[in-house]
Amino acid sequence: MGVYTLLLLALLTCAILPQSTPDPDDEACLTHLRGSLVDPNSNLKNWTGPNFKAPCSGLISYLHGATCNNGRIYKLSLSNLSLQGSLSPFLSNCTNLQSLDLSSNSLTGPIPPAAAALLPNLAVLNLSSNRLSGPIPPQLSLCAYLNVIDLHNNLLSGEIPQQLGLLARLSAFDVSNNRLSGPIPSLLGNRTRFNASSYEGNKGLYGYPLPPMKNKGVTILEIVGIGLGSGLLSLVLSFGAVCVWLRVSEHKMGVEEGKIGNLMPDY
Ligand SMILES: *[C@@H]1O[C@H](CO)[C@@H](O)[C@H](O)[C@H]1NC(C)=O
Ligand SMILES: *[C@@H]1O[C@H](CO)[C@@H](O)[C@H](O)[C@H]1NC(C)=O
Ligand SMILES: *[C@@H]1O[C@H](CO)[C@@H](O)[C@H](O)[C@H]1NC(C)=O
Ligand SMILES: *[C@@H]1O[C@H](CO)[C@@H](O)[C@H](O)[C@H]1NC(C)=O
Ligand SMILES: *[C@@H]1O[C@H](CO)[C@@H](O)[C@H](O)[C@H]1NC(C)=O
Ligand SMILES: *[C@@H]1O[C@H](CO)[C@@H](O)[C@H](O)[C@H]1NC(C)=O
Repeated sequence: MGVYTLLLLALLTCAILPQSTPDPDDEACLTHLRGSLVDPNSNLKNWTGPNFKAPCSGLISYLHGATCNNGRIYKLSLSNLSLQGSLSPFLSNCTNLQSLDLSSNSLTGPIPPAAAALLPNLAVLNLSSNRLSGPIPPQLSLCAYLNVIDLHNNLLSGEIPQQLGLLARLSAFDVSNNRLSGPIPSLLGNRTRFNASSYEGNKGLYGYPLPPMKNKGVTILEIVGIGLGSGLLSLVLSFGAVCVWLRVSEHKMGVEEGKIGNLMPDY
């Protein structure tokens, strides 16, 4: 029994050891991410030094916020750490990443489309409450396992990509409080799971499930009304101007006539 246990242990060790060699892709991913982030409170101070070169070399990760599985980074949770800076496109090198949570920081710049396109295992993306700008990359639709897309409270603009409606596994979707515009893709909008609270706080965004816009934009009736009104007004104004002009010239002529009359000697 003891021999078998030892054998099993030896086998396990053999199975684990080859995976403990640092993965060059994870290393590139984390090095560039660390380089693009600004960390004023030194939360990532152990993202440097000897442990950093082999982020998943032990059974556990030594890096704050990083979780390993089978020698690869599979979770990055760096929420609420006052992080500044931007998202590195090299995030795409963390190819085993399943969960990326950088919510409640002060990150700026765009969501790199390349990173979105090349994370085939991504299930959770939480970038909420930052200052990210630019469009929502349509490439997110290539992450077929996405369950959670939380992008609320940012400065994202442009339209919501139609393709996101193809993400069959989405169970949470929140893009509220951004600067998005255009129609809500119907394939997303009519998912009963996502109500208006997923979309509110975007001035230019419209369509179901948001309530119809009030006092925003102008209806056809209003356009016709404004057209007729301004037409009538200009007619009245020009008519008035003509009347005034006629009056003035009449008056002038009268005065001239009077003057001429006055200059004429009396016979
Ligand atoms: C990282 O990703 C880029 C772009 O996809 C790729 O060219 C590169 O080989 C990857 N690995 C490393 C270690 O940079
Ligand atoms: C790295 O930092 C985190 C928290 O800041 C800590 O929990 C962890 O033990 C540190 N790891 C090492 C190897 O110092
Ligand atoms: C965020 O971190 C600050 C301290 O840095 C703490 O006071 C606050 O409660 C945290 N918020 C959340 C939602 O964890
Ligand atoms: C995203 O993170 C925030 C905290 O930073 C949390 O409140 C929110 O529930 C998360 N979103 C999802 C869908 O879990
Ligand atoms: C949602 O919208 C799509 C596209 O317009 C349509 O094909 C589908 O039937 C709709 N589903 C529901 C439940 O309304
Ligand atoms: C919208 O859905 C969220 C959960 O997804 C729920 O907390 C909220 O009450 C819902 N709001 C309305 C108006 O139904």
